[in-house]
Amino acid sequence: MKGQILKMLLETEDYVSGQKLCESFGVSRTAVWKAVNQLKEEGYEIESVTKKGYRIVSSPDLVTKEAIEGKMNTKVLGRKVVYHEVVDSTNNIAKELSEQKDSHGTLCTAEIQNGGKGRRGRSFYSPAGSGIWMSLLLKPDMTPQAASMLTPLAALAVVRGILEEEKDLDLKIKWPNDIIYKKKKLCGILTEMGAEPDCIHYVVVGIGINVNTIEFPKEIQEVATSLYLATGKNTDRSSLICRIMKHFEEYYERFLEAKSLAPFVEEYNALLVNRGEEVKVSGSEELSGTALGINETGELLVETKEGVVPVLSGEVSVRGIYGYV
Ligand code: BTN
Repeated sequence: MKGQILKMLLETEDYVSGQKLCESFGVSRTAVWKAVNQLKEEGYEIESVTKKGYRIVSSPDLVTKEAIEGKMNTKVLGRKVVYHEVVDSTNNIAKELSEQKDSHGTLCTAEIQNGGKGRRGRSFYSPAGSGIWMSLLLKPDMTPQAASMLTPLAALAVVRGILEEEKDLDLKIKWPNDIIYKKKKLCGILTEMGAEPDCIHYVVVGIGINVNTIEFPKEIQEVATSLYLATGKNTDRSSLICRIMKHFEEYYERFLEAKSLAPFVEEYNALLVNRGEEVKVSGSEELSGTALGINETGELLVETKEGVVPVLSGEVSVRGIYGYV
């Protein structure tokens, strides 16, 4: 009920009368008053005026179920949020939920991850209060090959979600799925799936964004950045999450129709950080050449001396010849 009251207050710019809240949710005035007080304790600034009712003056920067669901304007994806203050990894929480019926589209968020996972077995720095650590659970009817293409779509959605508010930010994508600002990483994406060779049980798209981080530990200072460091101001995390989900849902629907990345190749390649430059691919495949862009299945096309080679993302890392980017 607290969540529903919050949603109604967030959706209405003017005052909402106590009477209306009581009637809408079938509860007493005291129950409404208690819920409003709980919200105040959580950091919401709520004005109450006799004969007018309640009005939200400001919201704290939270990634809780209430804060996100109250603003989410998607059809399915992210409409249900599962929030934990501390988790090992939101990807693990989403995987656990995959057993449950009707869990397609559930978004798992956390304030802190103490076992945040990155690609290639790395850990992902996920401290309290400053970032978005979220995992979207999907149960799509598609092959594992097709599901791997959801990662570039998520990268595009993150870029679009940020640019909606920060139009001039020069964001780039480092293939397959890092978002870069001025050669430093702003966001990483880890997609995990449960599948048999020809059938998917679930896909978890895990997105980590450094939002209001002021300082990074020494070990990653040279390669990590945040939206705060890029723009000089704080960003409301729950609003950004909702914008990203909205974009992701649009891309996802188009992808289900197209069954390939063909409609997105141009948009993705325009953002590709080292397009037309020398890159070194290392991991299961080792090669050097010029990065040309992705193809319609999401492979990176690299022009080598032997010809153009499509590189599968998997466990591969691509670097410019001078370092991280
Ligand atoms: C990478 O940069 O290698 C990928 C990082 C992915 C981090 C996100 S944060 C939310 C989700 N939970 C995790 O444990 N990892 C992803």
